[in-house]
Amino acid sequence: MSFIKDKELELKELLNTLEYNIDDVKLELSSRPEFGMYQYNGAMSLAKQYHKNPREIAEEIVKKLKLDKDLINVNIQGAGFINISFTNEALTKYINKLLLNVQTSIDTYKTKKIVIDYGGANVAKTLHVGHLRSANIGEALKRLAILCGYTVISDAHLGDFGRQMGMIILEIKNRYPNLPYFSDSYSGEYPKELPITSKDLETIYPIANLKAKEDENFMNEARTITNELQKGHPGYTALWKYIYDISVKDIREIYNSLNTSFDYWYGESDANKYIPELTKYLQEKNILKQSEGAIIIDVSQKDDKKEIPPFIYIKSNGALSYEATDLATIYQRQKDFKPDEIWYVVDNRQELHFIQTFRAAYLSEIVPNNVKLEFLGFGTMNGKDGRPFKTRDGGVMSLSNLINLVKEETLKRVSDDIENKEEVSNIVAIATIKYADLLPTRNKDYIFDIEKFCDMQGKTGPYILYSTVRINSLLKKANNSNYNFIDIYNDYDLDIVINILNLTKAIDNSLKNKSLNDICEYLFKLNSSYNNFYNEFKILTEKNIEKKTSWLALSKVVYDINKMLLNVLAINIPDRM
Ligand code: ARG
Repeated sequence: MSFIKDKELELKELLNTLEYNIDDVKLELSSRPEFGMYQYNGAMSLAKQYHKNPREIAEEIVKKLKLDKDLINVNIQGAGFINISFTNEALTKYINKLLLNVQTSIDTYKTKKIVIDYGGANVAKTLHVGHLRSANIGEALKRLAILCGYTVISDAHLGDFGRQMGMIILEIKNRYPNLPYFSDSYSGEYPKELPITSKDLETIYPIANLKAKEDENFMNEARTITNELQKGHPGYTALWKYIYDISVKDIREIYNSLNTSFDYWYGESDANKYIPELTKYLQEKNILKQSEGAIIIDVSQKDDKKEIPPFIYIKSNGALSYEATDLATIYQRQKDFKPDEIWYVVDNRQELHFIQTFRAAYLSEIVPNNVKLEFLGFGTMNGKDGRPFKTRDGGVMSLSNLINLVKEETLKRVSDDIENKEEVSNIVAIATIKYADLLPTRNKDYIFDIEKFCDMQGKTGPYILYSTVRINSLLKKANNSNYNFIDIYNDYDLDIVINILNLTKAIDNSLKNKSLNDICEYLFKLNSSYNNFYNEFKILTEKNIEKKTSWLALSKVVYDINKMLLNVLAINIPDRM
């Protein structure tokens, strides 16, 4: 348990003994450090609740607080703001505890089981920058949840059964009409090799998409093929499997390069298998309605401020809707995993889709009401013009192009002295992308600014990484194995210690907001305080052995925190940079 949380709990008990009942007791970092390190501002609200003078309440509290031997300088300012500082002994003890294991600062008693749905790449379609955010945020939230003790199941939820598959199959049919997939009378084995590579797939979909837009017949035929594929047409299924395999190989590579991995690589096609069973279930619940040729579920609610359109289960052309695949996926997850929560890390623009789907899931009792289905929307990555980030010629920026762009920029900045320069700049480039992507509050848009993101100074991945690498090499040079934090010698040390105390809050806030913003900001603050200290003192040549020992211990704790948090963000640390 963390130092500050312990103190908050003690304060809560103390308030109880004074017969003040309050749930949330928070110690805030002081905005006026001259009065103390932390503040307790609860006397004001207690005064309202108990119809008393806040100053009087503050005095009662302070009288008791003065008995705590971990505290010094307990005082009241203004109407009843209580300031406290901690003794060096108390802080020193805590830092030594963290030296054994930084993870002791984290509450890990959570028992919930969570499915996280993120990634969401589409088979045979190029991944774009929107998929980047889902991968980065989802992977980090997964790691954060695991760190905090949750049981987590991750699922890539590939888009592998939508209309794009019908279009691609049709385009291949037009190019190679004699392949056996398209012959109804064929009953032999389907070929293992085809003249179609993953490079070809990159161009096949855009071409087919254009044709579908311009030519109604093409579109209709693609729809028919999609329908038949979903119903299990053997030739289309075999060709689909071929396309799936080569495309998923590429998708896996991209996710690997982003340090992103999944327990399950299920997709819409897996959900499709549950459709007959789900349809029967929904029929028995008597919840499906016919409407203008489609089969729908009415998910509107009386108190809706804006109209929520019906959940479309089967479209009027007989095809399965995107909503249906998600409902079937919830059905499958409930059957297989019985989760307490399902988190969806998806672009903000899909919010309505999830409102409809979640309502349909609760209405039809596919999940009980106590299972939390949560949409974790994220904002768009924009270009400097404030519009979704594009290539120079205005096309959609593919994810691999974006990664390459940052790799090139990083390569220019990494020193030539480093032997494995290329490898190091790849690590730094991924750190650059991830930190920039995770720094803004989750649901906010942000602007892609490559110079700013790659800068070694400021709130950037390279800054945090450089700081981490430098501490690591300091620790290696010192070649110490027995760390001992002895005392706080100056304000630089103290500033780092206070930042260390704030770790638990940064983690709690990140988890509460399901946004990595708090952790990114925290890393910046911690490392800034460390770098101020580093620039002020010569640690390795310090003559005073106790000071030197203490400083190395402090450096080690900062390093361990960096390592733990960078791991949450799925950022690797190079040996040198
Ligand atoms: N494949 C979708 C897309 O690219 C994202 C999938 C999101 N997850 C989900 N369960 N629908 O837009």
